Amino acid sequence: MLTSAEIRQKFLDFFSDKGHQIVASAPIVIKNDPTLMFTNAGMNQFKDIILGNAPARDKRVADTQKCLRVSGKHNDLEEVGHDTYHHTMFEMLGNWSFGDYFKKETIAWAWELLTEVYGLPKDRLYVTIFEGDQSDDLPRDTEAYDSWKEWISEDRILNGNKKDNFWEMGDVGPCGPSSEIHIDLRSDEERNSVPGDSLVNQDHPLVVEIWNLVFMEFNRKADGTLVHLPARHVDTGMGFERLCMALQDKKSNYDTDVFQPIIREIEKISGLAYGKNEEQDVAFRVIADHLRAVSFAVADGQLPSNNGAGYVIRRILRRAIRYGYQFLNLKEPFIYRLVEVLQREMGEFFPEIRTQKELVVKVIQEEEAGFLRTVEQGLNRLNQILESTKDGQVSGKQAFELFDTFGFPLDLTQLILRERGYSLDEKGFQKEMAAQKERSRQATSLETGDWVTLLDDDQEEFVGYDRLESSIRIAAYRQVQQKKKSFYQLVFTMTPFYPEGGGQVGDKGFIEAEDERIRIFDTKRENGQIVHYAEKLPENLHFPFTAVVDRGERISTARNHSATHLLHETLREVLGTHVEQKGSLVAPDHLRFDFSHFQKLTQEEIREIEGRVNERIRQNLTLEEFRNIPQKEALDMGAMALFGEKYGDTVRAIKFGSSIELCGGTHVQATGDIGLFLIVHESAVAAGIRRIEAITGKAAESYIHEKMDQLREIAEEVKNPKNPIGQVRQLKDDNSRLQKEVARLTQEKASHLGDQLIAGAESINGIRFIGKTVDLDMGAIKDLCFRLKSELKGLVVVIGNSHQGKANISVAISDDVIQARGLKAGDLVKKVAPLIKGGGGGQPGFAAAGGSDPNGLEAAYQESRKLISQSNAS
Ligand code: SER
Repeated sequence: MLTSAEIRQKFLDFFSDKGHQIVASAPIVIKNDPTLMFTNAGMNQFKDIILGNAPARDKRVADTQKCLRVSGKHNDLEEVGHDTYHHTMFEMLGNWSFGDYFKKETIAWAWELLTEVYGLPKDRLYVTIFEGDQSDDLPRDTEAYDSWKEWISEDRILNGNKKDNFWEMGDVGPCGPSSEIHIDLRSDEERNSVPGDSLVNQDHPLVVEIWNLVFMEFNRKADGTLVHLPARHVDTGMGFERLCMALQDKKSNYDTDVFQPIIREIEKISGLAYGKNEEQDVAFRVIADHLRAVSFAVADGQLPSNNGAGYVIRRILRRAIRYGYQFLNLKEPFIYRLVEVLQREMGEFFPEIRTQKELVVKVIQEEEAGFLRTVEQGLNRLNQILESTKDGQVSGKQAFELFDTFGFPLDLTQLILRERGYSLDEKGFQKEMAAQKERSRQATSLETGDWVTLLDDDQEEFVGYDRLESSIRIAAYRQVQQKKKSFYQLVFTMTPFYPEGGGQVGDKGFIEAEDERIRIFDTKRENGQIVHYAEKLPENLHFPFTAVVDRGERISTARNHSATHLLHETLREVLGTHVEQKGSLVAPDHLRFDFSHFQKLTQEEIREIEGRVNERIRQNLTLEEFRNIPQKEALDMGAMALFGEKYGDTVRAIKFGSSIELCGGTHVQATGDIGLFLIVHESAVAAGIRRIEAITGKAAESYIHEKMDQLREIAEEVKNPKNPIGQVRQLKDDNSRLQKEVARLTQEKASHLGDQLIAGAESINGIRFIGKTVDLDMGAIKDLCFRLKSELKGLVVVIGNSHQGKANISVAISDDVIQARGLKAGDLVKKVAPLIKGGGGGQPGFAAAGGSDPNGLEAAYQESRKLISQSNAS
């Protein structure tokens, strides 16, 4: 029986023999594409080639691609674990023709590989072809039909509708009719009783699609129409795990050697056996699947977080934790312990899971610990909710709070409630959920119109490495609507504007023609084009324009970018070669660099790093730029390979002395231009990831000036220019000594005052009354009140003070008066508080009020006297 590694290799060897270039899987995490968060199909990394926006270096390519289908158009998340053949992360084996061979060869080779190389039985295979679609005015795919006829009997060629047999990458983008290959893995007995063709595309776990052959011919536009692509391409995708199931004679993907080692490990940790109980089996599968998705996403640079792609990863991991918690009784972090098995099994082919293992383990462990704490808190909150639930039903709002704040999905809450004999207002929950979805939709929704092409320019050229100004024409534009605001995106014939990428922000500037100037407020890359963001369109779109990049911002950004390279190299020197870049932001005013490292940096390390970077700046190392060199050449030069390079990219290498990086960003001509480098902040971003924020050039100079000014002012304030720090310490010591002294004196004063007040107490209606304004703070007055109460019986005390135009009244009444007369401090203070234009309250024995009119204090004492004289023995 073939192992999964052999199955993968045979696929690649087969297409290599047919003249295909074998390329590496692109990262599972997609940067720089606003329409996609994760790689969801093998063709993603070739999207620009298919759309005709980038040239194809090889016309035939094959690979195995890590894919993640958990968001957007292709989303299998909720099915995963409940069935045996869907996954979040899976490997897609694929072969591509870029304008080269088409349907005939694709079909012949697919058949040859499956039946001759892998030896799959022909009588278990079915194929589908596109039946056509009226709404898109597309005919039936007779070309595919005729090709299949040569290999398979016609009763095994089935028609499929648009949903199954017209593959689209997303709502917009490349698409085309497809032809799928399905396999029937049921027993002969079952096959005899129910014919396999009736189960194709019917969600049967043993009659499954294994290979999708897509014939890319169209681009779907935002208005729903289809336009022909410049060339016809082939894009195939075969589900690797399903192929392994078929070839290893299993009934479930999870029974193959792709998943079994992980499942065995979960058995060990949980002490439970897989295959004994359906609920537990689902949990086993969920965990085994999600482990892969999360580990590869983290290894490829996507950490769990609270928004965007990071949030998707967090949700997947939490789903796994929850299934472990709920069904396998795993209440301590355990998923991180599975990474070891995963890297053992997959590290050979995907080395990133080995090199990043330590980070992956840390990140998962920390997430697990954090979420399990949240679950505990959620259970506490649920207990509180149940205590206050009167009618046995928990409201939709409360269930939503558990979901939103503690990550409790509805089914978990329902399960706990059922166990405890409560019900849930599910409709109410759904209503809250819909309202939240609407809120987030409104916050993020971006509607783009179709591109309007003005000039058929072949390839927009970026000239911004050499020039900050150039004459351009607008080649295409479209309108974009976001949160009721509308702006325009423009594509030029050539451009000096750097599009956001590699951490560096996009250029700003303007375009100008005759007497019109249009501001460009951002620049980004999309589908291989450089897109300029403008608030409005020029009057005449057809004029030639001068495009001008904001020079000041660009130079500041370049300083920060070059400094980032020096920092990266220095970090590896000072902290060790485990330091790897995990993210960066290069803006005009500062730079941010995230990297793997497990401890907080010490002050000495920060100084050392700063010092070494500044040393390199003073060496004034000149920029050596290598444009358009093959990746291999750059790596041979010793360039630090950064994550995110796609197949087919020629690269640009940037060298300053011994620092060599693959980088598309803009840089200074020599490091001396950076001026000065200062680290202003060091912090943790996630487990095992630190962040440095730094400034250079003018910003560093201003920072130093600001700090020097502060220091000078401090020196002036403390009147000790030579040793202001010594003086500040002295002042602090003096201050705490004086505070103690003041506290002692206040106490003395209060005690003295207490004696005076007792001596001057009035007698009203058989009660001793003290009504007086004193110069003490509220704390001291309270102490005083309690002292008076403890020393004298039959007492009512009303003490006022005033401070900065505000007044306070404190009232204390001794217990015997409360009992005998029914007078209560809380009531009395409420009655007199309006006299100082305020309010207050408290207990029968002591109460206080604050107000804004100190002039009312005397009236408050007077009113108190009146209330006492009116009080009767009860
Ligand atoms: N793009 C198609 C798919 O993902 C074939 O590779 O199914």
